[in-house]
Amino acid sequence: MKKGLGLSVVLIIAPVTQAADIEAGKAKVTTVCAACHGATGVSVSDDIPNLAGQRARYLEAQLKALKDGTRKNPIMNAIAAQLSSQDMANVAAYFAAQPGAEKGARSSFLPNVAKTRVTFPEGYKDTFTKYHTINFPATKQVRYYYANEAAVRAAKEGNALPHDSVLFAEVYAARLDTEKKPVMGGDGFYVADKLLFYTAMARGTGWGKDIPEMLRNGDWNYTVFTTDKQHRPGVNQALCLACHKPLGNTSYVFTLKQLAGAK
Ligand code: HEC
Ligand code: HEC
Repeated sequence: MKKGLGLSVVLIIAPVTQAADIEAGKAKVTTVCAACHGATGVSVSDDIPNLAGQRARYLEAQLKALKDGTRKNPIMNAIAAQLSSQDMANVAAYFAAQPGAEKGARSSFLPNVAKTRVTFPEGYKDTFTKYHTINFPATKQVRYYYANEAAVRAAKEGNALPHDSVLFAEVYAARLDTEKKPVMGGDGFYVADKLLFYTAMARGTGWGKDIPEMLRNGDWNYTVFTTDKQHRPGVNQALCLACHKPLGNTSYVFTLKQLAGAK
């Protein structure tokens, strides 16, 4: 009898919810969320919502829905998955306390997150393996995927992709017929027309060290190159990192199976 009573007392005094800690919320926001939503909830681009001055209860409910997957967005699902309910209460209270964004205001990228060390892989056509192709009907594009020897070898041996791995894709507009539909080649892929840009991910020693843990993909960095092989301005590496983040057990690579099967 006595024992049972003691247990119920413990349950009653155990805290069910803790009050939101705005300072802890601010610390999380300035290191992680700021890469996209800005340090005060004024976002970095038009496709990312402002959070400044939104109601705490609304923000918290959205984060819960993004964590349990009832609200779908690959970027925010990956971020919310890493937040505890206490974190959610904290960041929601912080954003709610910020003054609403002025019309047209935008924050700048977090320099440590936007910085990339990936360089253009000169001569890839001769030295890389073309391991995969994908049609993109929505954008009428076709992408060709290439990987360097270090990446192909590791994938074939079933090992994690090592430092010096480079994965690279050429993104082409598909050739269109008179009805503006992509022309299909004999191989089942769209016929490539104009090269639009390149997208790349590569790994090097220490390349992840300046990136906050919630976004870090080990030592991978990402970039987009223009057709004249320059870094495309305005690329927010945080988006690449967030979306590839859940793939930690396949070296952060979506097409690892295809890479392992490369001829
Ligand atoms: C890599 C960029 C990125 C980062 C980092 C990021 N977000 Fe987001 N967030 C987005 C995008 C994009 C959306 C819009 C999602 C959609 O369209 O459903 C969003 C939406 C949200 C929403 C829903 C807003 C609304 O108006 O419904 C909340 C809340 C949110 N983010 C909170 C956070 C918090 C808290 C963090 C940090 C822990 C964070 N986000 C980090 C990109 C990001
Ligand atoms: C919304 C989620 C999402 C975002 C954001 C994203 N990726 Fe990916 N990425 C994918 C998916 C899914 C694939 C698998 C093949 C495909 O659909 O292109 C992929 C494949 C890749 C590949 C081929 C290797 C692999 O993982 O299979 C590279 C290189 C790549 N992405 C680079 C980038 C870069 C650079 C950025 C940022 C500019 C980026 N990605 C942003 C989802 C994303």
